[in-house]
Amino acid sequence: MQDRLTNLAISNVLSNAVNIGNRLHLFKALAEISSEENPVLPEKIAERAGCKERYVREWCNTLACGNILEVNEKEEFWIANENSEALTTENFPLVFNTMLSTVLKPIQNLIECFRKDGPYGLDYNVYSDFEEMQQKFAKVTSENHIIPSLVPAIGNGIQERLQSGIRVLDVGCGSGIQVKLLAEHFPNSHFIGLDITEKAIEAARLLKKSDGSDFENLEFLVADAGDMPKSYTDSFDLVLLFGSCHDQMRPDLCMKEVHRVVKSDGIVAVTDVDGSSNVYTDRETYGKMAAMKYGGSMLHCLPVGSNSPDALCCGSMWGRRRAVELMNKCGFFDVEIIPTDYFPGSVLYVMKK
Ligand SMILES: C[S@@+](CC[C@H](N)C(=O)[O-])C[C@H]1O[C@@H](n2cnc3c(N)ncnc32)[C@H](O)[C@@H]1O
Repeated sequence: MQDRLTNLAISNVLSNAVNIGNRLHLFKALAEISSEENPVLPEKIAERAGCKERYVREWCNTLACGNILEVNEKEEFWIANENSEALTTENFPLVFNTMLSTVLKPIQNLIECFRKDGPYGLDYNVYSDFEEMQQKFAKVTSENHIIPSLVPAIGNGIQERLQSGIRVLDVGCGSGIQVKLLAEHFPNSHFIGLDITEKAIEAARLLKKSDGSDFENLEFLVADAGDMPKSYTDSFDLVLLFGSCHDQMRPDLCMKEVHRVVKSDGIVAVTDVDGSSNVYTDRETYGKMAAMKYGGSMLHCLPVGSNSPDALCCGSMWGRRRAVELMNKCGFFDVEIIPTDYFPGSVLYVMKK
């Protein structure tokens, strides 16, 4: 076990060094100016990235010793060809390493939450750059998949209805990446993104179409999903929740509201972290990734979803059984479960009222 613990600490250090490199564009700088035939000294990377040489040198030393960068005897560095794409493009594993430092920021507060007499949970605000990270994460997971894969997977003629023009609500939209993609692709439909976090909605309101112009079919609202505007009753053809059900303190109040606001022939589609509602089964199914899933829940989803005395404390690994039970309780009796391999680790629930 001691060797394993040492290896864990080494991985942790390397993950943080990868995070630093990604945030400061050091990998990109290195890739642009070096190759195996033309390795460079840290001062060149520092100059290119607008950073201090001494810090960049220690960063290079760390990642070369971790076999993530290459080094020669003259202490010159480069990125191996086969690693270049993974380290320089926004991809799921790279963003994951970057996100970890965001969810670890309030670690001391989280430790206090564990204590019997400690706080119930944590507010989104304590994860200081959460919105920025959420937007990055939503981009790498959604950009290539929402339109070609998710919309057809919802079925029920939704693609055609979106084309001809319907009203759509994205509940817990965060900084709005998914609803923006939909609004751009389906100009005849009208979209509303709703989230309780003001900072997230502020970021969402800055979103523009790909050509830089403003949206005419997209609006955002700061509101509690458990208490949506009265005027919304029976008014949406499609209600979407992208990973935002388990994060809420009272997802039951939210789903009851969703039941109220969706039309009688409307569709509700919820993506969520996939799990079986049994940790033993999840470990069998996902291997080491199960630790990442439960760990993400422990560090972020559980504390934000536990932050009041009446919170349901779901955590992101509440899994299919508990998710469907809750949806049944809120009036959705026929919940279809659809795999979504294009959203790593997630699943889609589709239901009608
Ligand atoms: C995991 S994030 C997902 C955000 C976004 N859908 C995405 O995929 O990037 C969960 C979101 O739910 C929002 N949220 C949590 N509780 C809420 C509530 N009661 N009402 C509305 N939004 C809520 C949070 O502010 C956060 O933006």
